[in-house]
Amino acid sequence: MKHLQNRRAVITGAASGIGAAIAHAYADAGARLLLCDRDATRLATTIEECRARGAQAQACVADVGTREGAQAGVDACLEAFGGIDILVNNAGMLTQAPCVELTYEMWEEMLRVDLTSVFVASQRALPHMLAQGWGRIINIASQLGIKGGAELAHYAAAKAGVIGFSKSLALEVSKHNVLVNAIAPGPIETPLVDGISQAWKTAKARELPLGRFGRADEVAPIAVLLASEPGGNLFVGQTLGPNAGDVMP
Ligand SMILES: NC(=O)c1ccc[n+]([C@@H]2O[C@H](COP(=O)([O-])OP(=O)(O)OC[C@H]3O[C@@H](n4cnc5c(N)ncnc54)[C@H](O)[C@@H]3O)[C@@H](O)[C@H]2O)c1
Repeated sequence: MKHLQNRRAVITGAASGIGAAIAHAYADAGARLLLCDRDATRLATTIEECRARGAQAQACVADVGTREGAQAGVDACLEAFGGIDILVNNAGMLTQAPCVELTYEMWEEMLRVDLTSVFVASQRALPHMLAQGWGRIINIASQLGIKGGAELAHYAAAKAGVIGFSKSLALEVSKHNVLVNAIAPGPIETPLVDGISQAWKTAKARELPLGRFGRADEVAPIAVLLASEPGGNLFVGQTLGPNAGDVMP
């Protein structure tokens, strides 16, 4: 029996990086997948990869930065599989500017994509999870939501919001066996950090206790654990930190 056999899972931001790695790991664990991203081309590749691993996988092309787009993945899962068991809110973006130069538009977009989408998708999924007495919501935050990041005030604020939202929702719904947790990765080598200079990355890797950035496939098993029984049963409102030792709360 696989850990997530027949579980119906929505994963946002599944076309790349950590989201794609979670999709692969969920496919291997036996889940049925509704994969959501705004990048239709790369999403189709992840879908093919998951099907090649033997999983049922459907695509939902949507922008989670809009209310309708954030609801779309859950709605598509209900339509395709008749329900939803697991929601992984992973889609995220990265822009960078000193706070004095951060425009209102940059701030507002970051909050919409990285934080509001988590609320909207979770709220859409919750009635179904509560009615069936089983659900897992896994929100991908960032260690920067704990430690902050220079020139990343909007990103760190959104990710701190994700952690606060996850704890609060966990308090509300865990008695109904709907468990909500966050994963707060440290630096992971994905396209998200492509824009950051190699010099900065080398210096950052040197300061990490582990001495290197993580890989997406080293984060994905945590999302499997949190959705598994019995391994995930006792995690409620936690923030798990695959961060190579950068933050030790
Ligand atoms: N890479 C890191 O170092 C790191 C560290 C901590 C947290 N994270 C978080 O992990 C998550 C995944 O990031 P990643 O590193 O895999 O990045 P990535 O850029 O490889 O993947 C992000 C995916 O999200 C999708 N996406 C972005 N905005 C979207 C939108 N509005 N609607 C729909 N899809 C959208 C992108 O198309 C992409 O496929 C993000 O929430 C990110 O903040 C990443």
